[in-house]
Amino acid sequence: MGKVISIANQKGGVGKTTTAINLAASLAAIEHPTLIIDVDPQSNTTSGLGIEPKTVTNSIYEVMIGGVQVTEAICETELPYLDLVPSHINLVGAEIEMVDRKDRERILSSSIEGLREKYDFIIIDCPPSLGLLTINALTGSDAVIIPVQCEYFALEGLGQLLNTIKIVRQHLNPDLEIEGVLLTMYDTRTRLSNQVADEVKRYFDDRVFKSVISRNVRLAEAPSFGKPALLYDATSTGSKNYLSLARELIQKNKDLFKDSSVLTN
Ligand SMILES: Nc1ncnc2c1ncn2[C@@H]1O[C@H](COP(=O)(O)OP(=O)(O)OP(=O)(O)O)[C@@H](O)[C@H]1O
Ligand SMILES: [Mg+2]
Repeated sequence: MGKVISIANQKGGVGKTTTAINLAASLAAIEHPTLIIDVDPQSNTTSGLGIEPKTVTNSIYEVMIGGVQVTEAICETELPYLDLVPSHINLVGAEIEMVDRKDRERILSSSIEGLREKYDFIIIDCPPSLGLLTINALTGSDAVIIPVQCEYFALEGLGQLLNTIKIVRQHLNPDLEIEGVLLTMYDTRTRLSNQVADEVKRYFDDRVFKSVISRNVRLAEAPSFGKPALLYDATSTGSKNYLSLARELIQKNKDLFKDSSVLTN
């Protein structure tokens, strides 16, 4: 059974989308069938994987609001083991359209129920808010990865996110775990990055991933070519960092893949 993991932090620009794309691509490169679901109206994951959001017929919007089966919205990507459920700007209105729905927090969860058999990992890219879209993602997930940018005020707002996770656990999804906190845009040359990393580790202890994502220009360039960094520059530090994260994640979840012989050590 596949594991569903949301990438969430209501703070903008901390590396959620970069993590969703490159972690999913790395898992796929290690031959774990992976699906990435773009739940952000900005559709950066969709365009970052080479799909023009405007040309999409069935997006996550049609799945959540229009009653379209999720299987009708799955697109293939350039990587054989990686599929995508794209987003669309229409999704901006979804939070309002969902308000009157019964079980409005569980719409995504019930839409993707059947997919766990097909994929080892389902990675959900969340928008920078704690609104109904993120609540839907957390309700439908087994775990959450929290990217934290190694910058000033890195921990600011994390209390709100942790509180939201607690509320989702209490009322909607008791099994939701924190898979880990991921340090992103780490710059070894600056004392600030080290200070932030130390502070995050003090607070989250062993819930911080050992893999750290460096600031790397290839990670910022790759989306404009519609590719994950692995297909844009496989030797870049960014590609290596996300492969390391994928391996760490697989190792942590090795019980899920007892039958799989590929790279679990
Ligand atoms: N490790 C990195 N090194 C260099 N640039 C990065 C790195 N991670 C992300 N970026 C760049 O920083 C910007 C923000 O990253 P990203 O879009 O992944 O954040 P986000 O949390 O998804 O943003 P939003 O909250 O708007 O959805 C992007 O321009 C991205 O290319
Ligand atoms: Mg994003």
